[in-house]
Amino acid sequence: MKLVLPTIEYEQSFREAAEEFRKEEKRLDIENSLVKRLGESSDFSAFVEKLHGEAEGKFLPEGYVPHTVFWLVDGEKFIGWLNIRHRLNEHLREVGGHIGYAIRPSERGKGYGNKILELALTKARELGIEDVRITCNADNIRSAKVIEKNGGVFENTATTAGDTTRRRYWIHLQK
Ligand SMILES: CC(C)(COP(=O)(O)OP(=O)(O)OC[C@H]1O[C@@H](n2cnc3c(N)ncnc32)[C@H](O)[C@@H]1OP(=O)(O)O)[C@@H](O)C(=O)NCCC(=O)NCCS
Repeated sequence: MKLVLPTIEYEQSFREAAEEFRKEEKRLDIENSLVKRLGESSDFSAFVEKLHGEAEGKFLPEGYVPHTVFWLVDGEKFIGWLNIRHRLNEHLREVGGHIGYAIRPSERGKGYGNKILELALTKARELGIEDVRITCNADNIRSAKVIEKNGGVFENTATTAGDTTRRRYWIHLQK
């Protein structure tokens, strides 16, 4: 299992995973974002190019900071994805955080969640991030476990503009 930068190699598996996300009854921002970004796109290489561009600050909505997307793959299978924002703006510091991640529904509960954040922290370090802000919805027990297992120090809770309570953590990375 490893993280890779988005590549057309995993197109079929990625599309199957996107379909799983689409069918989920309750979707979070991160999952919506995957489905929305793929959209109805038949041009997978353009989609992949766009993801690469976002790391250089291209194609992003006003106010967004550059972020790098990585995919977790196991053999030929797309397992999940993550998103590392290169720096915090006020919204990210308050409730968004540096890192978002999601495991495709059919692969949850197998340890991939713990692994994806562990691998994400290595990438965050490479991007020069020392103190990682990370948050999850208060009712997202699995994600809270993943964060705490990976060194997350609970700070407090905060409420989003949409009235969702988020648990806020810091993970201090070794220099
Ligand atoms: C959160 C998420 C990434 C976890 O991925 P996962 O592959 O299921 O996680 P793991 O299998 O590594 O399990 C993580 C922890 O949750 C626990 N867990 C697994 N299934 C669980 C369940 N149904 N109820 C409660 N805890 C559960 C595991 O025991 C593990 O805890 P442990 O390490 O203390 O044993 C995944 O559920 C997901 O993609 N959810 C939707 C998107 C999301 O919430 N992203 C995070 C946004 S902050």
